[in-house]
Amino acid sequence: MRQLLFFSNNKNKIIEIKKIFNKFNLELITLNDLNISEEPKENGQTFEKNAKIKSDYGFNKTGIPCFADDSGICIESLNWKPGVLSKRFLNNFKSNEVCFDSIIKSTKKNSKQNAYFKTSISLTVKENQNVIFNGKIDGKISEKAKGRYGFGYDPIFVPKNYNKTLAELNTKEKNEISHRSIAVTKLINFLIN
Ligand code: IMP
Repeated sequence: MRQLLFFSNNKNKIIEIKKIFNKFNLELITLNDLNISEEPKENGQTFEKNAKIKSDYGFNKTGIPCFADDSGICIESLNWKPGVLSKRFLNNFKSNEVCFDSIIKSTKKNSKQNAYFKTSISLTVKENQNVIFNGKIDGKISEKAKGRYGFGYDPIFVPKNYNKTLAELNTKEKNEISHRSIAVTKLINFLIN
């Protein structure tokens, strides 16, 4: 069995990714298992760059093959932002609800409903050698925030051809379509082939 480090402290991401890895003979360990809490500055301008910063850091620190995910939402009515700044954008509001209201208002005002989530996964197996796997899911901003599953912007994102938000889908259902599961499946195919 090969050991692989997932460089993340985000509980929700870990749950989603572990569910996919469970089907394969790969042992996944996380920062928590190694008692690592420090993370590098994510100062890249793209998801790919930030994912690489994290996977290189994890590999250099532990010597274990390491992957990291960087992800976010891009919203048409906000000129396709916040993108790589998704976490900081949400944290700048008093609460998630206030942030969601502001996004929904701007969507209605500009009559632009489209949005997408993107994940970039970087895998570092040797010093300065990394591979990138991308995943994307298209959809729309909902009329109002709905659902109790998932995390982040899930309550206001309705995937294309669905009439529920991502937060109304459980982990198994989200994993059938999500940006993260698309990127992780590419990573696993790379690892097992
Ligand atoms: P990071 O990849 O840890 O920098 O975080 C990206 C941020 O984007 C998260 O904190 C969430 O706010 C948002 N995000 C990323 N993936 C998802 C998702 O699957 N659902 C909802 N929000 C997400």
